[in-house]
Amino acid sequence: MNTSLPPSSEPIVRRGQMICQQNTLIPGGRAFRFLVKCGEIESFAGMNADTDDYLPAFVIQYENQYFAYLNRCAHVAMELDWNPGEMFDEEQKYLICATHYAIYDPQSGKCLSGPCPKGAKLNALPIVLKDDGIYFAPL
Ligand code: FES
Repeated sequence: MNTSLPPSSEPIVRRGQMICQQNTLIPGGRAFRFLVKCGEIESFAGMNADTDDYLPAFVIQYENQYFAYLNRCAHVAMELDWNPGEMFDEEQKYLICATHYAIYDPQSGKCLSGPCPKGAKLNALPIVLKDDGIYFAPL
């Protein structure tokens, strides 16, 4: 996967910058997609990418809390969405990978079922809520 050139349609969010307004998201609704620089994430070690590469990420609202993850399935490094930003199941309870249907807990990122290795989880990204915004936590 070539991650060095970010697609133009999604914002690059650096540490300390706002990802989106909180009211952009509804509980169990469409995720807000963005890009992060590999060198700015703690979970980068072990990934097949360079520090200057960009990786897709998303933030969701679930039960009045916000969670951000790399958009990278723990089974194969594929994005979860079946349409951009759509990754919740019909009951808006779990995240589902569109490729082989791994199911994730939206709060912990843990893979609950599917072909992921035992104990696998999504890579959580630290966020901070400030005013009405959701920010990628500063380093
Ligand atoms: S790539 Fe997500 S379940 Fe296989």
